[in-house]
Amino acid sequence: MISPLENAKDVEIVWQNLEPKKPYPFPWPILGFFDIFPECVYMDPPEMQAVQFDADSQFDLVILAYQVWFLSPSLPITGFLKSAEARVLKDKPVITFIACRGMWLSAQEKIKGMLNSIGARLIDNAVLVDQGPPWATFVTTPRWLLTGNKKGFWGIFPPAGVAADDIRGASRFGRAIADSLIKLETEKDSSLLKGLGAVKVNPRYIAGEKIAHRSFFIWGKLFRAIGRTGHPLRRFLLIVYIVFLITMILTVMPLGVILRAILKPFIKEKLENQVKEFEKPSGSSTERMAQYI
Ligand SMILES: Cc1cc2nc3c(=O)[nH]c(=O)nc-3n(C[C@H](O)[C@H](O)[C@H](O)COP(=O)(O)O)c2cc1C
Repeated sequence: MISPLENAKDVEIVWQNLEPKKPYPFPWPILGFFDIFPECVYMDPPEMQAVQFDADSQFDLVILAYQVWFLSPSLPITGFLKSAEARVLKDKPVITFIACRGMWLSAQEKIKGMLNSIGARLIDNAVLVDQGPPWATFVTTPRWLLTGNKKGFWGIFPPAGVAADDIRGASRFGRAIADSLIKLETEKDSSLLKGLGAVKVNPRYIAGEKIAHRSFFIWGKLFRAIGRTGHPLRRFLLIVYIVFLITMILTVMPLGVILRAILKPFIKEKLENQVKEFEKPSGSSTERMAQYI
């Protein structure tokens, strides 16, 4: 995404890796993976390493790249946005850039809330999702996170992660940004990435995300009441929760598909409006793609 800006005249890029004091593992042990979901959902910030930039400096544009963890911003990004250094974003235009399996709607709503409370201006959002249909990434993404194995298998499951072509294609965003830097001064809240297919909301995920987030919220409250990440009783109950979660997914998800098919004619307009809302501010249209590919 940034590569076209690297050699652009008059552009200085400052990179900052947002690192927690205690690194998260990769691949993830299965209990350790699930044990952080309450903190993700309730956005409990981890302790963060000091940032290298001066939080009082005036950046013209901030690109905030993050992963989604349990339908919420990943803990390092929460840690940063809730730290004093996040004041660097005040009154600044921000572009969020998400890489995830495909369920990012609730996480982005939470990011919007945090940016709002800091006083930052979200001008664009671009999203890259894991390759393959949702039923495949439902298997390939967790397999990758828990084993480190990204390869496709059985001839039907594609490799895990964002496709190399999609990653290369993200340079169109950088080219468009390089072309429109002047807009940051002249049209303050204007999107730079409209018409570039920056996001595509899958309406089929909207209800599922809401239900799953609600479930994480209720169970998360219970786990947080028991103790912090790593608490032995919490870990034991996690096993019960994982079984419950898998049962829910195997039963409620197919029911949801049937229910959606029945309700489709009645909720079509509502869904279309929700899609438009979630796709703001960059939208899913592609009329400028040819110019920047
Ligand atoms: C703890 C954890 C929870 C995750 N939860 C979600 C999720 O709720 N929705 C989603 O689309 N992806 C989820 N992912 C996948 C990540 O967003 C991301 O795709 C993955 O970590 C690979 O990121 P990378 O392409 O930056 O390496 C989760 C990953 C981790 C490590």
